[in-house]
Amino acid sequence: MPAFQFRKLVLSAAVMAVWPLAAQTAPAQPNDFIDVFAKLSGEHKGLRKNHSKGVCAVGDFTASKAATAYFDADLFSGETLPVIYRFSLPGGNPLAPDYAGVPRGFAAQFSLKNGTKHNIATLNVPVFAAKDPETFLGLLQASVPGADGKPDMAKLTAFKAAHPDTKPLEQWLASHQPPFSYATAEYFGIHTFYLNSKQGEKTKIRWHLQPHDGVKGLTEAEIAEKKPDFLHQRLAERLQQGAVSFDWIISFGEPEDAVNDPSVQWPAQRKTLNAGMLRLTASGDNSCDNINFDPNVLSRGFSASDDPVLRMRSPAYAISFGKRLSGQ
Ligand code: HEM
Repeated sequence: MPAFQFRKLVLSAAVMAVWPLAAQTAPAQPNDFIDVFAKLSGEHKGLRKNHSKGVCAVGDFTASKAATAYFDADLFSGETLPVIYRFSLPGGNPLAPDYAGVPRGFAAQFSLKNGTKHNIATLNVPVFAAKDPETFLGLLQASVPGADGKPDMAKLTAFKAAHPDTKPLEQWLASHQPPFSYATAEYFGIHTFYLNSKQGEKTKIRWHLQPHDGVKGLTEAEIAEKKPDFLHQRLAERLQQGAVSFDWIISFGEPEDAVNDPSVQWPAQRKTLNAGMLRLTASGDNSCDNINFDPNVLSRGFSASDDPVLRMRSPAYAISFGKRLSGQ
């Protein structure tokens, strides 16, 4: 066989071998998420393309003495810092029902004395829906309703079976009730971050926010009532009795703990440090409307891991932010 024909044969064999793989693993693009949120929930101009339904709150944060002593981070200076918060439900539907068995969101933007900002955007579940953006996108796409208004359950089940990293969140949601109030949920950072210690170490951490009001879910009877809107009002009523507070609990990772996979929870026995208290004093204004709670906006001392889901969040949030600010 002439050399050029042989090369052509080898090349086509290589292309054929790689093609199905390439089609399956095409990297997810930030815009793909904006498109699929619209397919799932419709277009809602001027609103967040995900977590559309939500409520703002204001308050402050004071780091604990332990955090100030241990970490070399501006956020943990020990001064009381103003914070703008937002609680939310996931999805692009601004009328999402408050009893739904889906995660709840809690975001905060801290304003530091030196003018810098620090954001967190958490969920009341300890794991994410998928290990990477491609699986999360595939899961969302498989959930898009067909002409009959319902997702193709066979397709969705097959997708989940082929992607076991979708299971931990599904199992967690099946074994926990949705929260009674935004103030009675524990919220998790989910991703791994790094924090500088005073000893000059880059410490591998995860964290969660523990409510002073305790963790309390809706009862089966309350879920069956199907009241669509009670979370905003319940928060406002609770705040009339005084501040709502959360402790910021930092867990220290062991070498074997997952760094870049947010679908895997760390073992519960990890060493922890109470890094301080987030306090909410009022809710219901519009202070959070024009904030992009991008979780990669971190103050000095913190740094992000290479978790691909965490990395995807910045560009997706930026597109959503740009669209909603320009009335799209
Ligand atoms: C690839 C994965 C993800 C994508 C594409 C995505 C996408 C988005 C988008 C487009 C928004 C609206 C942003 C805005 O308009 O300001 C949003 C909001 C939000 N997301 Fe994500 N997200 C992802 C993963 C996560 C994870 C892992 C968490 C929790 C650890 C999370 C928690 C939140 C919260 C709490 C909000 C509401 C923030 C607010 O109140 O403004 N998201 N997400």
